[in-house]
Amino acid sequence: MPSFVNWTAPDLESDKRWVFRLSDRAIAEIVEQARRSSHLADDLLRIDRKTFHLSPETVKEFTTALEMTQHAYGVSLIKGFPARDLSEAEFRVATWGTGLYMGLARPQNVAGDFLTDVRDAGSSAYRVVNGRGYNTSSELDFHIDSADAVLLYCRREARSGGESLITNPFSVAQHLIKQNPDHAPMLTQLYPFSLGGYKVDGKEHYLLPLMEQQGDACAFRINIKNIKNGAIQAGMTLSSEEMEFLYKFQDLAGSDRFCYRMYLQEGDIQILNNFHIIHSRTAFEDFDEPDRKRHLIRLWLCLQQSQPLPESWHTSFGSIEPGSVRGGFRNIALDARYEAHMREQCEALGIRL
Ligand SMILES: [Fe+2]
Repeated sequence: MPSFVNWTAPDLESDKRWVFRLSDRAIAEIVEQARRSSHLADDLLRIDRKTFHLSPETVKEFTTALEMTQHAYGVSLIKGFPARDLSEAEFRVATWGTGLYMGLARPQNVAGDFLTDVRDAGSSAYRVVNGRGYNTSSELDFHIDSADAVLLYCRREARSGGESLITNPFSVAQHLIKQNPDHAPMLTQLYPFSLGGYKVDGKEHYLLPLMEQQGDACAFRINIKNIKNGAIQAGMTLSSEEMEFLYKFQDLAGSDRFCYRMYLQEGDIQILNNFHIIHSRTAFEDFDEPDRKRHLIRLWLCLQQSQPLPESWHTSFGSIEPGSVRGGFRNIALDARYEAHMREQCEALGIRL
């Protein structure tokens, strides 16, 4: 397996080793387990691997796809997850249950949710200080999510739009440096990243570079919305050169050369390595009927297979050690039940506490 490659969009188009399809056996097991535990959909911490049991062969189908995100392109797509055969509650349980075999779920918001619904909740408030894009229908700036891996389980597609965009930021960076060596320091200088209206350790923003590499610890982040809001919170003024550079980067990231575009279909699971891929989504239009509206369930996982991170990531991820507990929403206190779940998952998966 090659390590990360400097791929561009045509590479992903021509080499589909990152696309997997679940076997009939795996689908049947998932449906059976999800139906058996659907009454626990609102109390996910009661579902462990004994409750949601999968055979080693089925687990292997998921871990093989997950492994792919730690090398090569940093992305995997699993097709065939049961969407039409399951109720919404069963689908939630199936998402949580299959996630148990891949990593430790991390909280995604101030409420401490481990599964979040990616759908239009009627809010268009994405570009405000504490606006979060996942519950709007807006087009999003390129960004990363705050965990080793982000998984999107697609339950319903949009009527139109909602295209998922993924880009290798290192290929964009390389292109920009080649074009003009003066771009190199713009990638490694510090930018104020807003924490989205929340405070961690008394701070509303972090000063962080876009790109950093220390040996194997190589990672990239960007989010223009958060940088602009962070500048307001920090009382900083970003220069016109800085803003121009950020938008130039984002435009290239969305261009045909660098951006791979895909429509997630019902039953697709997209898995992204957040350190090597930046992602976005186009605006979408929903169907009118409530149960036909675009609906994805998002899971943030901490992985045993995770890579080391550069020093500056310590502040936002809580740990830079490979295979350790890190990531997730950082300004909330997790209760004793999550602590117990975390210990059990760490022991089973070999994640360091
Ligand atoms: Fe995201």
